[in-house]
Amino acid sequence: MTKNSSTTKPDHSIVADYNGYDYKKIFWEDGKRDYEDLADRMAIQKLLPLHMDSFVDIAGGYGRLADEYLGRAKKCTIFDYSKTELADAKKKYGDKISTKAGDIYDLPFKDGSFDGLMMIRATHHFKDMPKVIEELYRILKPGGIAVIEVANKKTLPKMFRYWFKKSSVNPFDKNPSKIDGLTMYNYHPKYIEDLFKKQGFRIKKVLSVSNFRSKTLKNTFSTKFLGKMENVAQPLLAPVRFAPSIYYKLEKPEEE
Ligand SMILES: C[S@@+](CC[C@H](N)C(=O)[O-])C[C@H]1O[C@@H](n2cnc3c(N)ncnc32)[C@H](O)[C@@H]1O
Repeated sequence: MTKNSSTTKPDHSIVADYNGYDYKKIFWEDGKRDYEDLADRMAIQKLLPLHMDSFVDIAGGYGRLADEYLGRAKKCTIFDYSKTELADAKKKYGDKISTKAGDIYDLPFKDGSFDGLMMIRATHHFKDMPKVIEELYRILKPGGIAVIEVANKKTLPKMFRYWFKKSSVNPFDKNPSKIDGLTMYNYHPKYIEDLFKKQGFRIKKVLSVSNFRSKTLKNTFSTKFLGKMENVAQPLLAPVRFAPSIYYKLEKPEEE
C-alpha cells in the first residue's frame, strides 16, 4: 500500500508517495487487473487526439500507458511525484520519453506548455481537485485536449451498500467522499463536471469505464470477452455515469 505524508501546504498536503512501492508488480500483475488495464486503454484510444506536438502524462507512474500515446505525439513527458516510478519509465522507454518529478499542486511547467495531456487513476489521491484542475488547465495550450479519469463515488455497488446500510457514504451527495480508513477520495460526476466548466474547460466527450470491474465477472469470463462488452458499454453507459471510472475528454478553448 502507498504511504501518505504531509508537506507544508495545509490545503492540499496529501501526497500518495509511491517511491519504493512496486506499483506495477503489486497492483497490476499480482492484482490480476488485465481487464481494468484493457478498459483504460480502450478509453484512451477513443479519446486522445491522433496527432500532437507536445504531450504530458500527469501522475503517469512507470509509464503503464505510454504505448497508447507514444505514436501520437512528437514529444512525450511523464510527470509524477515518485522518482522510482519515473526511473522505471526511463529504463523502459529511454529517450522516447522525458520524465519530470514534482507535485501536482505546483506543476513545474510553464503556462501553455502542452497541446495534450492525460491523467489516469490519480484523482483518488487528490483532496484539492479545484487546484489540480486549475494547474492542468494552466499548462495546456489554448485548443489543447485533456483526457482525465475520475474515481466515481456514484457507482451501482456504492448505491446498494448505501441503501442496505452497509455504508454511510451517500453516493448521491455531490461532495467528495473519503474512502474509509484511507487518504483516498471519490468524486461525484456532477461535482467534477461543475469544476471543469467553472475552470473554463469544454466537455467534448464522456465514457463509462471499467463497467465490469467485479471479481465474480473476472473469474467467470475471459478478459477478451469482458473487453468486447466493455468496448460497447463505454459510450452506451456514459449518460448514467455509474461505472467506477468516468473518463472525460476536455478542451481548453482557443483564445477569443
Ligand atoms: C494509481 S497510480 C497511477 C499511475 C498511472 N497514471 C497509471 O494509470 O498507471 C497514481 C500515481 O499518482 C502519483 N501521485 C500521487 N500523488 C501525487 C502528487 N501529489 N503529485 C504528483 N503525482 C502524484 C503516484 O506517484 C502514482 O504514480
